[in-house]
Amino acid sequence: MRPVILIGYMGSGKTTVGKCLAERKKIEFLDTDAMIEEQEGKTISDIFDQMGEESFRDMETALIQRLVEEQRSDVVLSVGGGLPVRKENRVLLKKLGTVIYLMASKETIIERVSGSENRPLLRDGSLDEKVEHMLKLRSPLYEEAADIRIDTNGKTADELADEITAVKVSAGVKK
Ligand code: S3P
Repeated sequence: MRPVILIGYMGSGKTTVGKCLAERKKIEFLDTDAMIEEQEGKTISDIFDQMGEESFRDMETALIQRLVEEQRSDVVLSVGGGLPVRKENRVLLKKLGTVIYLMASKETIIERVSGSENRPLLRDGSLDEKVEHMLKLRSPLYEEAADIRIDTNGKTADELADEITAVKVSAGVKK
């Protein structure tokens, strides 16, 4: 099976849904944030603080590039919310697998990310304004990167895993 890649804004449920999907299909689950944290031996917040956002973005690109080169299969991959912002990364994601955009409303996102401490981009200022601004900026890029879009509002991880499986089959994405 080609890799299933979950993209979407912070709090769209990529990690929770991804784990659930991988468990059901009995395949590996990978998460770019977790892989980068392990590689650097630092939290995402520390990487942003000590090395800057641009270095983090370079690490994301290098990681996706490596996964493409390795021709990975049978894996569910959740990617950081900002990864599809670079054009280069959107091209790499398409090469890597089937890209699924988990859409969530501003209200759902705010509810899910409130209290999160390892999201440096949401640390200061008004959460409402930041989420609104980033959603406006990023939604068209997520749309461009995606093969399949799924509305996550009001749905559980189990329901979403079911929906992804059903939609993939009806879209003819079987490999
Ligand atoms: C980011 C999203 C985060 C993480 C970093 C930056 C973003 O991942 O990569 O804090 O720019 O949206 P999640 O989407 O998994 O929270």
